[in-house]
Amino acid sequence: MSFQNKVVIVTGASSGIGAATAIAYAKEGADVVLMGRIYLLVNNAGIIGIATVMGENTMEEFDKIMNTNLRAVVHLINLAAKYLIQTKGNIVNIFSMTGRAVVERVSAYMTSKAGLDHYNRGAAKEFAKFGVRVNVVTPGPMTTDIHETIPADVKPPTIKPLPLNRSSESEVETRKK
Ligand SMILES: NC(=O)c1ccc[n+]([C@@H]2O[C@H](COP(=O)([O-])OP(=O)(O)OC[C@H]3O[C@@H](n4cnc5c(N)ncnc54)[C@H](OP(=O)(O)O)[C@@H]3O)[C@@H](O)[C@H]2O)c1
Repeated sequence: MSFQNKVVIVTGASSGIGAATAIAYAKEGADVVLMGRIYLLVNNAGIIGIATVMGENTMEEFDKIMNTNLRAVVHLINLAAKYLIQTKGNIVNIFSMTGRAVVERVSAYMTSKAGLDHYNRGAAKEFAKFGVRVNVVTPGPMTTDIHETIPADVKPPTIKPLPLNRSSESEVETRKK
């Protein structure tokens, strides 16, 4: 599908999935910039962190994760809504399997993604009458910088159920670390 002359916003496009997404849309002719008329908003920016029930920095970490993964999405959608209605555009929110699964020590991340999933449903309902579609995309485990911020032993539970027992790579090399 051509995105010639369409304006696409991808948050968190400096590395990983966001970088690969922005490059892919640019290759299809999209203007991947924050101006003009908006046709597609991809809410990809996200962080993970450890926030255990007895942790010393749990509330600080919880607020940081919820602010980035959920509050910022609500804010961006709110700011972009009137422009997306003009173009009958689209919103894509990047979800995670952990929003419906349990991985010990990353409850804040799991909660932010579960919240995003349900917010997506409400937003889709509100936007439907204006012809704006709102969807989640759920990548499987991927080798990106996001995993550098959590201990290595947090990773296996999300990878273990996969038939090949491994993470996927982005289509292009986007890692900063
Ligand atoms: N990797 C996986 O296995 C996986 C699986 C399912 C879903 N996801 C989701 O995919 C999305 C992208 O993650 P990734 O794996 O590609 O990780 P990544 O390589 O670490 O990319 C995260 C992106 O988010 C940006 N970001 C983080 N905090 C931000 C903030 N406060 N304001 C603006 N930008 C911010 C980062 O920019 P800076 O580096 O400049 O801060 C970076 O561009 C996330 O929503 C993640 O939850 C990832």
